[in-house]
Amino acid sequence: MERKFGKALIDSNTLQERVRQLGRQISEDYAGKGIIMIAVLKGAALFYADLIRQIKVPVTLDFVQAKSYAGRTSTGEVRLLSEPEYIDRLAGRHVIVVEDIVDTGVTMQYLRKTLLDKRPASLKVCTLLDKPGHRRSKVKLDYVGFSIPNVFVVGYGMDHNEQFRNLPYLAVLEDVE
Ligand code: IMP
Ligand code: MG
Repeated sequence: MERKFGKALIDSNTLQERVRQLGRQISEDYAGKGIIMIAVLKGAALFYADLIRQIKVPVTLDFVQAKSYAGRTSTGEVRLLSEPEYIDRLAGRHVIVVEDIVDTGVTMQYLRKTLLDKRPASLKVCTLLDKPGHRRSKVKLDYVGFSIPNVFVVGYGMDHNEQFRNLPYLAVLEDVE
């Protein structure tokens, strides 16, 4: 069976407008403070690159690579392929984790626990997409771009077996015979 992406679920202009709003909100919430923003690679890379350019307070960039998916299904087991550079310097700092999508919540739950162990002054989660219908681990999301139904999406950083990340908009993955 071949997989292809269908029409846009969220087009590029709508994505960019929402990213601007999130950037404004974060800039207001952290006025007078600095933030360490940790992108969850690879899916969040495009969202993150757009988001940080909308933030008006000092931002330190950092990255973590997590893996829990094989194909279209979550394995339910999270592995860190790489740790944030600042992992041992988060104490007393304001930290925001930036995700592409929270689905079962297992990845974010694991990341929150790992980062909270380092005693940051605050830890918030910013995700472009929320798929609340699939939740297995209850996790607090502080900034959400869009809530979407239980469909598998690709584009704007998100992949299916490493394909389609470079689509400039968000599409639903479809099966074709
Ligand atoms: P969770 O641990 O189930 O919440 O999964 C989170 C990760 O799974 C996200 O960071 C994505 O990388 C990936 N993921 C979940 N749903 C989708 C989807 O619809 N398309 C692409 N990747 C997804
Ligand atoms: Mg991800």
